[in-house]
Amino acid sequence: MSDKLIFVGNIISPTLLNIECINGFIQVQNGKITDINTRKYFNQNEQTFIKTGYTIKVLGLNEFLIPGFVDCHTHAPQYPNLGIGLDRPLLEWLDKYTFPLECLYSDTEFAAKVYDQVVRRLINNGTTTACYFGSLHLEGTLELVKCVIKHNQRALVGKVSMNVKNDAGYYNDTNVELNQVKTFVNKVLEYKNKLVEPVITPRFALSCDKELMKQLSTIARENSCLIQSHISENKKEIEFVLNSYSECSNYAEVYDRCGIFNNKCIMAHGVHLTESEMSMFARKGISIAHCPASNTRLRSGLCPVRKLLDKGVKVGLGTDVSGGDNSSMLDALRRAMDVSEHLNLLGAKESPLNWREALYLATLGGATALHLNDKIGSFEVGKDFDALVIDLYSKDSPIDKYDSSLAQEQEAMLERVQKFVYLGDDRNIVQVYVKGIKVKDIL
Ligand code: GUN
Ligand code: FE
Repeated sequence: MSDKLIFVGNIISPTLLNIECINGFIQVQNGKITDINTRKYFNQNEQTFIKTGYTIKVLGLNEFLIPGFVDCHTHAPQYPNLGIGLDRPLLEWLDKYTFPLECLYSDTEFAAKVYDQVVRRLINNGTTTACYFGSLHLEGTLELVKCVIKHNQRALVGKVSMNVKNDAGYYNDTNVELNQVKTFVNKVLEYKNKLVEPVITPRFALSCDKELMKQLSTIARENSCLIQSHISENKKEIEFVLNSYSECSNYAEVYDRCGIFNNKCIMAHGVHLTESEMSMFARKGISIAHCPASNTRLRSGLCPVRKLLDKGVKVGLGTDVSGGDNSSMLDALRRAMDVSEHLNLLGAKESPLNWREALYLATLGGATALHLNDKIGSFEVGKDFDALVIDLYSKDSPIDKYDSSLAQEQEAMLERVQKFVYLGDDRNIVQVYVKGIKVKDIL
């Protein structure tokens, strides 16, 4: 395939305050965006582009480009449990369904098989970047790394760290764990793959003791790795954490005292954060992966995303499979809107998220939360070209043809994007590009 591409047509790039929508062209070379300009400029230079070897794709009226989706939080080994075992609250759910399933990933062949399905499914759903929890297993989680490399998905991958005993026997001794994490980080870095990074992954404060968390934060700092974990998802969880750490006034302080918040850091959930914890997140630049499907399915609560954003906290979206029951970021962004509406209906004074903001959270918001916004999340010269070609009326589209819009041009374009946000699915995502490489094509 040519490493020189030009797309001509409607280009949609969400920001927190707006949706940028231009009818023009985007030029890509070696996976990077090298120019974005008007249609007139394209027309004037079309012959030069052809002579210099660009493959030119002209999008139709009902097609448009959006940045690839960024899933800030998902558990690859939990995919076989998608849609089952959602009858218990978090801590019981972990013991009854999740830890027993994750134990199976000591079998690397099983791991390789499941992870191949996971990565292919996510790419089909338009997830160009995923921040994954693997399992406790070194070799099993390396299979996930191999899978994302094979399928050319951008990913942050974490070997899950746990050293607190549980009924499933799913934990490691501290020294074994630390050695495995160091080996994992080194092996991922040895691939020298530009799309894949290791991420340090203490499961949460009830699975890791203080010593392990402190040592993990040192490994993260030494290797400039992102840290991911869970925080304040469920009231029982918070109660147990605060009982174990009576010297801390809140959950965030537990992680902070262990050094976890010293690095680039993304925490899933944050449903029940206090005002002072939110302020700490904003001050230290800690991100939240908002996981609305899981927060609903496990009855954890309604996360006040608008409040977090107003306080200056970076927020992205996560599917959190299999606490969440859907692997699609389109589902995640719709459920983020629903949760936000429900909070408002229950009396929250903050305004609900609108569809533009939800699309931002699923793209540039997620990239920012993962500290990748200098590279991905929007269409800007110098960024990598991670993009989805959307066709509103693709084969078997769930969206019926609609020709009677009263809106004109730009407005009508935004209506098409809105239709996709509310009604679209993987059938409308006809091509997916990661760093300029086509990873899905159903055109
Ligand atoms: N907290 C600790 N582990 C998990 C997990 O696997 N899923 C969710 N939703 N919360 C967690
Ligand atoms: Fe999770």
